[in-house]
Amino acid sequence: MSTTRPIGEAVGNASSVAARGKRDSTLSVAIVGVTGAVGQEFLNVLAQRQFPVGELRLLASARSAGKQVDYNGKTYTVEELTADRFADVDLALFSAGGSISKEYGPIAVQAGAVVVDNSSAFRMVDDVPLIVPEVNAEAIEAAGIGLGIDEKPGIIANPNCSTIIMMVAVTPLHRAAGVKRMVVSTYQAASGAGAAAMQELETQTREVLAGKSGKELTDDIFGLQYAFNLFSHNSPMQDNGYNQEEMKMVHETHKIWGFDASGVDKKDWPAIACTCVRVPVMRAHAESINLEFVKPMDEVLAKSLLKSAPGVSIIDDRANNRFPMPLDASGMDDVFVGRIRNDVSRAWRDGAGHGVELFVCGDQIRKGAALNAVQIAELLV
Ligand SMILES: NC(=O)c1ccc[n+]([C@@H]2O[C@H](COP(=O)([O-])OP(=O)(O)OC[C@H]3O[C@@H](n4cnc5c(N)ncnc54)[C@H](OP(=O)(O)O)[C@@H]3O)[C@@H](O)[C@H]2O)c1
Repeated sequence: MSTTRPIGEAVGNASSVAARGKRDSTLSVAIVGVTGAVGQEFLNVLAQRQFPVGELRLLASARSAGKQVDYNGKTYTVEELTADRFADVDLALFSAGGSISKEYGPIAVQAGAVVVDNSSAFRMVDDVPLIVPEVNAEAIEAAGIGLGIDEKPGIIANPNCSTIIMMVAVTPLHRAAGVKRMVVSTYQAASGAGAAAMQELETQTREVLAGKSGKELTDDIFGLQYAFNLFSHNSPMQDNGYNQEEMKMVHETHKIWGFDASGVDKKDWPAIACTCVRVPVMRAHAESINLEFVKPMDEVLAKSLLKSAPGVSIIDDRANNRFPMPLDASGMDDVFVGRIRNDVSRAWRDGAGHGVELFVCGDQIRKGAALNAVQIAELLV
């Protein structure tokens, strides 16, 4: 189903505008995809951050309709997602995949809601802000989207989880010295592919330990042995030989840093290349990031900038060989950064001063999805 009103355009419905003016201390919140990995984390994050939830509408597929879900000591019943579920909803948090967002996101906006969408459906649409609150919160205001009486409903997109984690760690350095080139390799957890992928990793691990192999293994999600193995990211391969996840990181970074609207010649945008790999870790992505800067930057300056960066924790203990691990980041809000070092390849050729390497871990269900979306919602209230 589609809407006749472009995304982000103000609602013309007088009663919904009046309702927006009446908003007091709580908001009517809908979660689309509440039974999924991100949906469940939405509930945790909203409760932990004492988000002003008034009415709560929990939506998923027909398969989950009738399931009972607890939130803040109260039991709610999951309802099937249908077009009429968004009446009087102020804030709709979407995490049910791109096709669901494409169909129902505009319907929710038409009904007067602000949608924060976790899928890739709208990320690269021109008038949809793509937000990491620590990086470009001001883009929401610029789009005029919000819950205030003089603001309009609309869609705000959450970036890809690997992009968010990278942005939190790299932006403080980019602001200081300008990233000229960035080469990233990711080590992505099962949970990035949803609840069923986590289940498959657990099942396969048990099967391999029980002596099964090859076709005997349960491989419905990835079609490959995942336990005790790793493989190139499962997103679709593009014509240029990069997969979709890798190209999302490139394009989204340019949009979040504002290069697409900057007037800067494309040849002078930061050059970015990624290799995304799925590793048999249950939760939290890791990334190795090699950075070249326009202005001087070294490990000392990088560490001091990251020490005071919002959303960043440093684990960088060379003496004890202790650096960020997915287990450090699991369930945590911050992105963990370590292995902060001068790029020896640049030091050897050009002398130190413009190249730094990082190793980063972040919980992609939390900061890479649910937490980032709730932080966006907090900017609206
Ligand atoms: N996992 C991550 O780390 C992560 C990070 C960033 C962004 N995202 C994005 O967030 C979205 C959800 O990811 P996830 O990992 O949470 O996936 P998931 O665990 O597979 O959950 C999918 C959710 O979507 C619901 N759903 C599926 N088909 C539906 C339909 N026809 N109508 C209504 N609801 C439907 C499912 O409901 P049922 O249980 O009823 O099937 C479930 O609640 C995806 O777009 C993903 O790309 C995920």
